[in-house]
Amino acid sequence: MGRKSQGGVTQPSVNIQMCLLVAVVIFSLVSTSSQSKNDGEGYFPCNKTQFASGDSFVCQCNSTYCDTIEGYLPLLADHFTYYTSSKASDRFAKRIAPISAKSNASASTVNLTINTSDLYQKVLGFGGAVTDSMALSVKNLSAATQNHLIRSYYSADGLEYTFSRINIGTCDFSKRPYSLCESENDFALTNFSLADEDINYKIPVLHAAMEASVRPLKFFCTQWSPPKWMKTSGTYRYRGQVIGEPGGKYYKTLALYLAKFIEGYAKHNVSMWGMTIQNEPWAGAIKDQPNACNYMTPQLERDFVKRDLGPTLEEHGLGHVNIMMLDDQRFELPDWPVVVLGDSEAEKYIKGIAVHWYWDKEAPTLKLDLTNNLFPDKFILYTEACEGTSATPGVKVDLGVWARGERFSQSIIENMSHWVTGWVDWNMALNIQGGPSWIAHKLNAPIIVDAEYDVFYKQPMFYHLGHFSKFVLPDSSRVGLKIDQSEDQKLEAISFLRPDGIVALVVINVQEDPIPISINHSTTGFLDAIVPARSIQTYLWKATHS
Ligand SMILES: *[C@@H]1O[C@H](CO)[C@@H](O)[C@H](O)[C@H]1NC(C)=O
Ligand SMILES: *[C@@H]1O[C@H](CO)[C@@H](O)[C@H](O)[C@H]1NC(C)=O
Ligand SMILES: *[C@@H]1O[C@H](CO)[C@@H](O)[C@H](O)[C@H]1NC(C)=O
Ligand SMILES: *[C@@H]1O[C@H](CO)[C@@H](O)[C@H](O)[C@H]1NC(C)=O
Ligand SMILES: *[C@@H]1O[C@H](CO)[C@@H](O)[C@H](O)[C@H]1NC(C)=O
Ligand SMILES: *[C@@H]1O[C@H](CO)[C@@H](O)[C@H](O)[C@H]1NC(C)=O
Ligand SMILES: *[C@@H]1O[C@H](CO)[C@@H](O)[C@H](O)[C@H]1NC(C)=O
Ligand SMILES: *[C@@H]1O[C@H](CO)[C@@H](O)[C@H](O)[C@H]1NC(C)=O
Ligand SMILES: *[C@@H]1O[C@H](CO)[C@@H](O)[C@H](O)[C@H]1NC(C)=O
Ligand SMILES: *[C@@H]1O[C@H](CO)[C@@H](O)[C@H](O)[C@H]1NC(C)=O
Repeated sequence: MGRKSQGGVTQPSVNIQMCLLVAVVIFSLVSTSSQSKNDGEGYFPCNKTQFASGDSFVCQCNSTYCDTIEGYLPLLADHFTYYTSSKASDRFAKRIAPISAKSNASASTVNLTINTSDLYQKVLGFGGAVTDSMALSVKNLSAATQNHLIRSYYSADGLEYTFSRINIGTCDFSKRPYSLCESENDFALTNFSLADEDINYKIPVLHAAMEASVRPLKFFCTQWSPPKWMKTSGTYRYRGQVIGEPGGKYYKTLALYLAKFIEGYAKHNVSMWGMTIQNEPWAGAIKDQPNACNYMTPQLERDFVKRDLGPTLEEHGLGHVNIMMLDDQRFELPDWPVVVLGDSEAEKYIKGIAVHWYWDKEAPTLKLDLTNNLFPDKFILYTEACEGTSATPGVKVDLGVWARGERFSQSIIENMSHWVTGWVDWNMALNIQGGPSWIAHKLNAPIIVDAEYDVFYKQPMFYHLGHFSKFVLPDSSRVGLKIDQSEDQKLEAISFLRPDGIVALVVINVQEDPIPISINHSTTGFLDAIVPARSIQTYLWKATHS
């Protein structure tokens, strides 16, 4: 009943004030934990809030109210279900329409032909980073508001993220420079211990995520800088690398340090699915590098993995942890993998290639295709992306800019059309300044927390990511898709066949006019619909086979 009353916020009614009052009272009494995991009925619409900096709105959540996604299972026979989010009005608006035996396409229709027998890569998943700054921002909210934030990302009525990336020691989104063993020359790491940021911030967020999620979660960790006493620079930032050579005592200690982090989290019941070897290994070559860093060449990475990291993880019973190489820009492809994976002793430890999106415009997708052709057994995962680096000067957190969401979904569609298996956003949430950060780095995030008012804002980016993470389940396969459109139509799309036999098609229209589409799935029928101006949609239907 509380839920139904909440629905009243969008319906003009003489009783609206009474309704809200009742809803709030009920809600505070029963508390948010009474929300069931996936009852599939009733949902809370967006509380639309417009800011001067945005051309679209954000959805505001607080301790008593937060929007959810309406369920869609089981799918109605002979019908398709689709969700729309648009610059002008919708956030996950659900609609259902019949599948037709023939297309009603006209000359201006964009025709999408799907072949679910034409299978490409399997999806690993979608997610974002639980950095120190994310966890600090989230824990700055009341418990009830935190619960809404975590549920928005992980629960069955939220985006259902499956990936989370976790920083080991300091990163740019930490409030201080630190490592997990500050005792100089403590090569046995007897004084290693997890930090306050781990124990009181990130781990509680991850526990809440596990509690909220129905899907199995995949956590992976990444180091920015080893303890500074292991480095040539003696600092976390600025040009520097680990002292000596792989196989030497400093590199051996670094491998132990990384193993101890994974063991430390395991003791708190947070089990790592994977790790990257080093965040942006090239960054440590830059003289005035402001961020925590550690320089590795492909040769150093190769030798560190085969001499130190791989064997150390195995000795510690952590051989199952998926090691990912690179964790840097696409322009490094395929040269880095050629050096690292060209060595069979290093190759045997490495499961995937992690890529960041920042310089993608400088590097053609051909680099992804080439890498996949050379190393078809290694997955390619986007492990970091964010908006804000290109913001209006002085404005890092602009609330409600639709184009920032479009850039996320365009990147996902384009890059996953070239063998990428998943996409992991950077900070899942930040504070209203776009921090905190000890290097005064400020960025935008899909969720912005305003702790002063105990609220958070779900940005267009949040919904764009959700059109993938929610509906494209892990282990879905990308399937063949042909788009026929005229020169001036710029519809972008990608399609998947899920393990449960449902086809998920994501389309985005970045143009100012609606586009009629006709989806031809030969074994099922035709799905005719309209993609509104400046919108993203996910279409779902049960694949039937003749
Ligand atoms: C949205 O949230 C704000 C802040 O809580 C509130 O003032 C406003 O009434 C809400 N709008 C609706 C439609 O509930
Ligand atoms: C939370 O938001 C709802 C809906 O916008 C509003 O009715 C309610 O008053 C807010 N609660 C608090 C504690 O501000
Ligand atoms: C669909 O893909 C399969 C596998 O690639 C191919 O054999 C088949 O010819 C395709 N069907 C059509 C209609 O193109
Ligand atoms: C561990 O830390 C303690 C307290 O700071 C210090 O006395 C001790 O020397 C350290 N141990 C090593 C091996 O560095
Ligand atoms: C880890 O899980 C076990 C078994 O479920 C439980 O007994 C223990 O208290 C948990 N430990 C922590 C730190 O959460
Ligand atoms: C990958 O994502 C980036 C960022 O949107 C984009 O510049 C690039 O063109 C994308 N697509 C491909 C095919 O690489
Ligand atoms: C927590 O919120 C307060 C305002 O209520 C703010 O001053 C502080 O910077 C916030 N902390 C973080 C880590 O965002
Ligand atoms: C889509 O199909 C319709 C009907 O077959 C056709 O008239 C139209 O030209 C097609 N659109 C494109 C861009 O090929
Ligand atoms: C639908 O796609 C199939 C191939 O999958 C093709 O044979 C058929 O002509 C298409 N129908 C229309 C109306 O375009
Ligand atoms: C095709 O049919 C759908 C569903 O009836 C309708 O909404 C749409 O406007 C039609 N599209 C075209 C291009 O005629």
